[in-house]
Amino acid sequence: MDGFNHKDLLGMGQLSVTDIELILDTAESMKEISLRDIKKVPTLRGKSVINFFYEPSTRTRTSFELAAKRLSADTVSLSSSGSSLTKGETLLDTARNLQAMHPDLIVLRHSSSGAPHLLASEINAGIINAGDGTNEHPTQALLDLFTIREKKGKIQGLKIAIIGDIEHSRVARSNIIGLTKMGADVTVSGPPTMIPSKAESLGVRVINNPADAIKDKDVIMVLRIQLERQSKILFPTLREYSTYFGINKDILRNAKPDAIVMHPGPINRGVEMSSDVADSPFSVILDQVTNGVAVRMALMYLLIGGHKSDDIA
Ligand code: CP
Repeated sequence: MDGFNHKDLLGMGQLSVTDIELILDTAESMKEISLRDIKKVPTLRGKSVINFFYEPSTRTRTSFELAAKRLSADTVSLSSSGSSLTKGETLLDTARNLQAMHPDLIVLRHSSSGAPHLLASEINAGIINAGDGTNEHPTQALLDLFTIREKKGKIQGLKIAIIGDIEHSRVARSNIIGLTKMGADVTVSGPPTMIPSKAESLGVRVINNPADAIKDKDVIMVLRIQLERQSKILFPTLREYSTYFGINKDILRNAKPDAIVMHPGPINRGVEMSSDVADSPFSVILDQVTNGVAVRMALMYLLIGGHKSDDIA
């Protein structure tokens, strides 16, 4: 395809600024489709998409499925518990068997970092990484970039704080790569035990105290503690985490008056974010979810769709 020469989307590092702008611009056209009475266009008619989720998901899985259906692709959803993985089949054998049925695209979420990369090197179908271990969650970063651009009119030059469990968060990693690439000024904040030891080498500033990190920021991105990916206890209690690192209305006063608050979900209310922030006018959390469908439609279109923008309509 002219302008977007990728078979797979495995991580934000593979995308140029031009690629990211193309995805976001295409997503703007796609967003309107979801507002129509008949939310369907024939763009991917005859294409097959397999959603293969080895880990739980509400937003990503539903949004990929809706995105594919709104573009008229045929979709199949597979989870680890409902597949022959439970009978001892390897991921690679499973993927080769799926490939034998000639899908165009496989969307994979897996607890092991690098699983989508392994599949991409072995099979012909396009692979989209829907979250791999602690590595990356590129479509979450793309929908976050889209939401920031939609709300702020730009990404370049914005001051952004990412607060929480940076070390174990694939959302943080993908956003740091994407936001710095697009020219944002990124600060990360959280308990020292949850900040990567060489965080500055990623091109970000580290300020552990969230009230200081938030100061004068345009965007506050709050992350869940990834308890399922921590091998040891990294803070004494949830109450203590909430007291020192939870984002509430008092702390938010340090940000710019028109700051937006983001969270990829799922939220643990009262832990990393209080309800008075999650449900406040500052919050764009549900806009992120809405935009996820448009961004995933754009990505599928660019990976396996037609060649002209008028195919969208
Ligand atoms: N943001 C995100 O990946 O949410 P899910 O785990 O519900 O897909």
